Amino acid sequence: TEPEPGKPHGPPPVPPGTSPPRISHGSHMALPPQGAAVVELPLTGVLVPPQVCWLSPEQTAGKQKPYMYTQGQAVLNRSFFPCFDTPSVKFTYSATVKVPEGFTAVMSATSWEKQKDNTFVFKMSQPIPSYLIALVVGDIVSADVGPRSRVWAEPCLIEAAKKEYDGVIEEFLVVGEKLFGPYVWGRYDILFMPPSFPFGGMENPCLTFVTPCLLAGDRSLVDVIIHEISHSWFGNLVTNATWGEFWLNEGFTMYAQRRISTEVYGLPYTCLEAATGRALLRQHMDATGEDHPLNKLRVVIEPGVNPDDTYNETPYEKGYCFVSYLAHLVGNQSKFDAFLQAYVNRFKFQSITADDTLGFFLEYFPELKEKGVDSIPGFEFDRWLNTPGWPPYLPDLSPGQQLMRPAEELAELWAADSLNMEAIEAVDIMGWRTYQLVYFLDQVLQKSPLPEGNVKRLSKIYPKISKAQNAELRLRWCQIVLKNNLEAEYSKVKDFLHSQGKQKYTLPLYRAMWGGSEATRALAMETFSATAPQLHVNVQNYVKKILGLAAAEV
Ligand code: BES
Ligand code: ZN
Repeated sequence: TEPEPGKPHGPPPVPPGTSPPRISHGSHMALPPQGAAVVELPLTGVLVPPQVCWLSPEQTAGKQKPYMYTQGQAVLNRSFFPCFDTPSVKFTYSATVKVPEGFTAVMSATSWEKQKDNTFVFKMSQPIPSYLIALVVGDIVSADVGPRSRVWAEPCLIEAAKKEYDGVIEEFLVVGEKLFGPYVWGRYDILFMPPSFPFGGMENPCLTFVTPCLLAGDRSLVDVIIHEISHSWFGNLVTNATWGEFWLNEGFTMYAQRRISTEVYGLPYTCLEAATGRALLRQHMDATGEDHPLNKLRVVIEPGVNPDDTYNETPYEKGYCFVSYLAHLVGNQSKFDAFLQAYVNRFKFQSITADDTLGFFLEYFPELKEKGVDSIPGFEFDRWLNTPGWPPYLPDLSPGQQLMRPAEELAELWAADSLNMEAIEAVDIMGWRTYQLVYFLDQVLQKSPLPEGNVKRLSKIYPKISKAQNAELRLRWCQIVLKNNLEAEYSKVKDFLHSQGKQKYTLPLYRAMWGGSEATRALAMETFSATAPQLHVNVQNYVKKILGLAAAEV
């Protein structure tokens, strides 16, 4: 079965005489157990599960040399080094890494130095939680893109990487500092990972890891970078004390991301981007049912449950709505910005719970506390945190209407029984930004299946969409192809899944294929057997669950 969110997964029964390597997820308490703490450390080669990712040359972009990387969040670093693998404990670290000739090591560290014998020495001088320690060893090179930023990538990608972000990173950092206070991490570098990297971005301090899908050639996916930069304050400085309050990391980060985006790109564009986020939340809640226990901000993660199995859109987009609601209560953007800065300053280098956050909010705004804003019927803070369902408050995205309306209207035209081609051809999508097209495609998907023949026609008329190289467009197009049983383009789904392994692209497509026809189920099986070895082990296991294959034990 699929990861059944919220339910504990006891370890599967093990046949006598076998003992597969396994991570114990233990408990997710705010603090490590007092007294007789039992720490299980898989320190021998046999016992270490494959959570440190070893890639063969074929699994890299250059296909010449092997590559290794770690992904700590949420609880994978316990199989990388001995640690209190909880976000409630912070520490500094240093590491000495010796690599073979022709390889470079990089880590999430404030300083590094290359010594003789290909030995790299790293130091992180600020306290961080275990999940933010990260290491990559590979054939990688770097190029400067700003006064405190460079990009890292395999040699074959470095030019594209430099071109994508040259001269744009510093502005995001400067705006972030203006809004949220000093950037304490020294450098902000970006490492482009091999295509199988399971996330869009991972906010490893000083060195964000990103999917190579961001290399769209037109900077259109830069919101991911702004998001990871925003974690420099929310998540990396002020950290959720438990994974059950992951929304403190992601909800505040979504809010900060959209504040920076508003300053740099303006409100209409930012509202459009936020509307695509809201559409993802809608899709998620439709798929799971609104009152699913994971559709609340404070999630109960029972001992033995892997926090990664609780991952979904709620902490991001419902979290964003809650932070927007707090801003709405304050009623003045610059006052709320000042609050955010004070909040970061108050809790920097600490790990906290929502009670700390909301307590500080009421303390900072005594007049709101007096008014009892925490218990307004229907909008109680307690309800936000502990009741599943659609957010009781949605920020006003109407400033994005000028960009959204044409996309909505065009989607309407395409959903008609007999197509009004004159009206359709009057709309020139060539000048649309990527997120406008994404928004349009989400609307088309929502209305799918369209009347017979429409999607085929759409595909012909808009090669900009149906032949897109941009990953966000490719995802939507594949979803539309599947929902409309457009067999002629099934190969695009296959190609897309062969080209990258991001979890948020991979799982929705397998779900759509498995929920479709005999033909799409066969396509799913065929694609998975060809690509499984390239996928991150977590993603592999989630796909196996979708396809009803016995999940490998991890
Ligand atoms: N910290 C997350 C990625 C993550 C979450 C890794 C949970 C492991 C467990 C990162 O900041 C993130 O949210 N990335 C998003 C970017 C998007 C929201 C702009 C992604 O990868 O899609
Ligand atoms: Zn994030």
